[in-house]
Amino acid sequence: MSKSYENLPGAAGKARFFRPSRYEASAVFAGSPPRVTFEDEIFDLENISAAGAGCVARLRGDDLGVPAGSSGVLRLTQHGRELFLGAARKVRRLASHGAVNVGFELEANRFDLNWLIRENASVLAREGRAVAPDLEPSIAYKTFCADATAFLGGYLLRIQKHVAPIEDRCTADELNDIARDLAAAAETEWLDLIGRGNELTAEIHNDKQKRIAYKSYTERTVSQILLGGPGWARCYYKPAGYPGDYKIMNYGYDQRPEGDTVAQKFLHLLGMSASRFVITRMETVASLIADYAKRRGEDGGDFTVTSVGAGPARELKDLLEETAENTQWRVNLVDQEPAALDFAFDSIARLSDRDRLTIRGLNISFREMLRPTADNGVFVGNDVIYSSGLVDYLNPLLAQRFVKRLYDFVKPGGQVIIGNVNNLATGRIWPLEYVTDWSLYFRNEEEMRAMASDIPDAKVSVVSDPLEAIYFLVVEKPAD
Ligand SMILES: C[S@@+](CC[C@H](N)C(=O)[O-])C[C@H]1O[C@@H](n2cnc3c(N)ncnc32)[C@H](O)[C@@H]1O
Repeated sequence: MSKSYENLPGAAGKARFFRPSRYEASAVFAGSPPRVTFEDEIFDLENISAAGAGCVARLRGDDLGVPAGSSGVLRLTQHGRELFLGAARKVRRLASHGAVNVGFELEANRFDLNWLIRENASVLAREGRAVAPDLEPSIAYKTFCADATAFLGGYLLRIQKHVAPIEDRCTADELNDIARDLAAAAETEWLDLIGRGNELTAEIHNDKQKRIAYKSYTERTVSQILLGGPGWARCYYKPAGYPGDYKIMNYGYDQRPEGDTVAQKFLHLLGMSASRFVITRMETVASLIADYAKRRGEDGGDFTVTSVGAGPARELKDLLEETAENTQWRVNLVDQEPAALDFAFDSIARLSDRDRLTIRGLNISFREMLRPTADNGVFVGNDVIYSSGLVDYLNPLLAQRFVKRLYDFVKPGGQVIIGNVNNLATGRIWPLEYVTDWSLYFRNEEEMRAMASDIPDAKVSVVSDPLEAIYFLVVEKPAD
């Protein structure tokens, strides 16, 4: 129902002093905002409104730049092209954590935000990026990308010629069946190509500059085709704001065709055959926990476990199936994403054996677990604390600290289990890092063991999933 004028409230408190809307620069300029110069000082643009800009610069020594209140010329440039020049005043200058945060207010004119956004995009789109010759991908890698592109293009061409013209005669199920048949026909060669991509990129992966150049080349060739599949697009664009959200994980678990056309469904299914490791990872972690329980009580028993970065928690179904009916599980699910926990709770409620599970959801970051707070009492004395697909994002020092913390939580005789993508040719380094810009620590066996290197009394082992794409670090605490 429409409100009457007398009921339209306006703003209260401080908010009654109207300020033009302020936008985050990285969002409105699609990750590449213009550079800001004020007189001879250079800044990164943080946020912008029609009336001014918020900027930041790395603090060099104790030079804070000209003081707040100074007037001067403000310029916005992208790749050397001037997008704005006008008089402005520095209205704020704050130094903290090695940076200076500065606010500018335009004096005579205003930013035409729509024009700036359009022009910035147009300059970026026109700009060809020259790569230093020693960073050019090898001929072998370029040939490989050409082979992969021709392989995908061949299927798409045949789909376009033979299938697209009859698509509107088919039901959704029929389109799915065609896409499944095509993906099955393509699978062996596709998986061989992934293995070849893994081998070629493993050679340069630890060289950051080369990695950037190889990724850029892949993005301009193979990724351009694969992004037609919804799963590839979600992995690449990361609409949740971070990689590996529960919807992506569910794509991998469900292995269903997605998309409107057979071409989209086909590309999506190629992504699914590359993602099968999420299933083997989930099955392996369930088996490792079930084995732990079986060793401790042939006739069931009560166990408390925690999954950190739990996502959709699909392993719980397998865990119930693999353990005796009189085994009871108290499970803590830790995830920073409430929607992931919602999904997990809903699907657990539909399990036939759900009475054997007592679930507690903790919508926190794993970082909270590192703190010495009473809230962490729920993890103390757990049988098993496990984490699949989270430590892959943590640098070696943080990963080591995290594993040690989990180890301190589990009871004597308990276990910490960590699943992490490996760096083998059988793994997924090429499709994840190079095709979809999904950056992870792809760890070898030694790097897995290093996560437990400061836990001297533990029994440490590394096991693999059946596809040999994932390593599991198993850290067992001696029984009292
Ligand atoms: C790649 S998914 C893996 C999910 C699940 N373990 C699986 O194997 O299906 C990673 C999960 O970690 C969660 N996550 C990311 N950062 C986190 C953080 N700082 N603390 C807790 N969870 C986090 C994400 O929300 C996501 O659900």
